[in-house]
Amino acid sequence: MKIKSEKINPTKKKTALLCTFVYEKSKSVLGLNEVDSKLGGLLKASLKETDGKTGTLNIIHTHGKVPAQRILLAGLGEKKKVNYDLVRIVSGKIAQKARDLGISEYSIFIPTDFELDIIPLIKTIVEGSELALYSFDKYKKEKNKKSPDLSILIEHSGNIEVVIKKTQTVCQGVIFARDIANLPPNDCPPQQLARFAKSLASQYKIKCTVMSKNEIRQKGCGGITAVGGGSKNEPKLIILEYNNGKRGVRPVVMVGKAVTFDTGGISIKPSEKMDEMKFDKCGGCIVLGIMKTVSALKLPVNVVGIIPAVENMPGGEAYRPGDIIKLYNGKTAEILNTDAEGRLILADALAYGKKNYSPKCIVDFATLTGACIVALGANVAGIIGNDDKLISKIKQAAENTSEQVWQLPIDDDYMEMIKSDVADIKNTGGGRGAGTITGAAFLAHSVDKVPWVHFDIAGTAWTQQGTKEKSYNPKGATGYGVRLLIEFLSNS
Ligand code: BES
Ligand code: MN
Ligand code: ZN
Repeated sequence: MKIKSEKINPTKKKTALLCTFVYEKSKSVLGLNEVDSKLGGLLKASLKETDGKTGTLNIIHTHGKVPAQRILLAGLGEKKKVNYDLVRIVSGKIAQKARDLGISEYSIFIPTDFELDIIPLIKTIVEGSELALYSFDKYKKEKNKKSPDLSILIEHSGNIEVVIKKTQTVCQGVIFARDIANLPPNDCPPQQLARFAKSLASQYKIKCTVMSKNEIRQKGCGGITAVGGGSKNEPKLIILEYNNGKRGVRPVVMVGKAVTFDTGGISIKPSEKMDEMKFDKCGGCIVLGIMKTVSALKLPVNVVGIIPAVENMPGGEAYRPGDIIKLYNGKTAEILNTDAEGRLILADALAYGKKNYSPKCIVDFATLTGACIVALGANVAGIIGNDDKLISKIKQAAENTSEQVWQLPIDDDYMEMIKSDVADIKNTGGGRGAGTITGAAFLAHSVDKVPWVHFDIAGTAWTQQGTKEKSYNPKGATGYGVRLLIEFLSNS
């Protein structure tokens, strides 16, 4: 969609749909008083109908009394509870309404005395609109209706256009991640992810390396080798390097779990909802989305994206419970459950990143544990790390983008829980609870003292049972994490 800003009196704006926000129980149509008087007080009268309740949309036809064909009053709920995420959600609803009406453009009016700060307000309106109009229709004959264009009517001089453009670029990164994450597992084996990475690298200033199954084994990545063994779709280790920061500044390394399908392997999963395990590649997909966005924005940073991509299948060459494997970090791991595969491939990728790129910090994203959904539900990601400064920066970024995080603890007692009788560590905590933390404890062996934050996005990576409905997260992969990390990288 095209989005622009305009300095124009709303009473004079010719548009198919002129939208404004209204508060609950408020008697004001926020800056549309002139329009209202031309309509003989119709707007104020209609306010009573929906009462400005959160998410309500009230459409009034103007019958030519003003150049705007229709007015839409969008409810924001109680004035004292208003926040940016609400604006994001309501802007998304407005965009979907405009699309469903089949109009080619619409306008949102921002009154001068609006509660929220103008720059983040514009950002959230753009995000809500762009992200809510996303739909995954690649496999459908009947495609979704075309997205309408948006004019933001605002009395403000400054770099509004720049903010709009930048935010749209970030949204395109989120959408890129969603588009890949939503692909069915038969069309997105590890090799296909590698193709996406290579084509991204050819479009931007990114270096891409893809390691084959043999190279992965030769390098000593025993985790990726073991997990990838059961599938005829061979594993790949994908590395993307973007260097646009000062020379010699150590990079941020990002690692994303990309299990293109997780059957559980020999420790096979129950069939109910197994289809959702196509989303077990979401961590890797958001790393692709972030790499695309930093490049498109030309951010002055050095970042490396590492994506271990495998399919976890119970084939004749599959790894087994009881196996002992050797990880890239030199440690041996006893396999107790082949469904705890994410930590094995991540352990290799994290250690590879640490050893070969001397990162200033490492961030990883993984749909790692069902236990994270048990602990936090489907709307909050679990974060675990080893560096308070880094963690607080991540929390701030999460606050700014409304992508919720909650920190879980990790200490030596948890490290104890993954000690093995026969190897250095084991790949499950042994059923004594704290599944999300023991998963992270396994990863901690690969990062040692490098500042690190692990995101368990099992609940937030796609819309699932328990997901709070938000217009800007339509069904399927959410792209959770892309906006957050761009925010983090922009401020670091
Ligand atoms: N990909 C799953 C985790 C998952 C499950 C994410 C459901 C989202 C929804 C992961 O590979 C897995 O199977 N984890 C196991 C670990 C256990 C065997 C220690 C789990 O959570 O049950
Ligand atoms: Mn699994
Ligand atoms: Zn998995």
